[in-house]
Amino acid sequence: MTTPLLEVRDLRIALDAGGRSHDAVGNVSFSIGRGETFGLVGESGCGKSITALSIMGLLRSPLSLAGGAIALDGREIQDLPAADMRRLRGKRIAMIFQEPMTALNPLSPVGRQIAEMFVLHERASWKEAWERAEDALRQVRVPSPERRVHDYPHQLSGGMRQRVMIAIALACGPDLLVADEPTTALDVTVQAEIVDLMAELCAAKGTAVLMISHDLGLVANMCERVAVMYAGRIVESQAADAIFAHPRHPYTQGLIGSLPLLSARSRHGRQKLREISGVVPSIVAYPPGCRFNPRCPAMTDICARDVPMAESLPDGGLVRCHHHG
Ligand SMILES: Nc1ncnc2c1ncn2[C@@H]1O[C@H](COP(=O)(O)OP(=O)(O)O)[C@@H](O)[C@H]1O
Ligand code: SF4
Ligand SMILES: [Mg+2]
Repeated sequence: MTTPLLEVRDLRIALDAGGRSHDAVGNVSFSIGRGETFGLVGESGCGKSITALSIMGLLRSPLSLAGGAIALDGREIQDLPAADMRRLRGKRIAMIFQEPMTALNPLSPVGRQIAEMFVLHERASWKEAWERAEDALRQVRVPSPERRVHDYPHQLSGGMRQRVMIAIALACGPDLLVADEPTTALDVTVQAEIVDLMAELCAAKGTAVLMISHDLGLVANMCERVAVMYAGRIVESQAADAIFAHPRHPYTQGLIGSLPLLSARSRHGRQKLREISGVVPSIVAYPPGCRFNPRCPAMTDICARDVPMAESLPDGGLVRCHHHG
């Protein structure tokens, strides 16, 4: 078997609150092959971003890595010294965030922020780095890149800023791009453009993508495999093209039911969205047994008592539910 590009094994993240350590994320395992697109989906508050931050080595107090391993090309990176981790970030693994404004330096022209990547990671001269920055802006299809390199982030639209973030992230040809809700803050029309651009550039460069979103439709469209996360656990994973036909976990079924397009096509021509009732519980108040039980239409006594274990399925998928069917 070939070594996966990224392997996350039994990841655990603790949250310190009120003098106690809480289990924010646990039993999270998945792997991503070279050039593969992998989706992580779930409602807001399920633990997607802190999982991404742990991969990047960017967890900060009150959150901390409490266990498990993160391996890049077979080499564990979770305990690397900060300086080594900084070298990996940008060069081998890069991340883009929901709101580019918070990730960009407001006081520095965007061209300089791209150029820095070449200077920092590839020891390019500033002159060469500026030329390459202009090329990088051209690649992400920012119009008039020769002028735009001198713009400050606030002079660009949200969509253009996210293009700049993609240019920075892909500048040094990383093996893995972690994209955390990259289009959530953008207008619907711009969202599709950004997703297509990301997919196209990553495919051309052979960059693997960990695509994170609350939007199952978007993730399933872009990714080969999808993992569904609920309350700090992966509750289901399988091939993206099978998940709509055979969702195994009640939470996945709920997510699909609340997608506008799919439910519009649902039986009896009903247009009404079936939102999942209730909300994601807070880390300090997870219910006993299955964490989805207060919201689950299929819940029984055992669900309130016993934590369901992850079951591996013959098709390579996984499900965590006492009554998956
Ligand atoms: N810095 C923090 N301090 C305390 N709690 C946090 C912090 N960051 C995230 N959390 C909590 O961790 C949980 C998971 O958060 P997050 O990973 O951001 O979810 P998602 O990205 O799926 O919306 C949430 O309950 C959130 O409130
Ligand atoms: S274990 Fe029970 S409560 Fe949890 S998802 Fe399955 S049926 Fe629902
Ligand atoms: Mg998030």
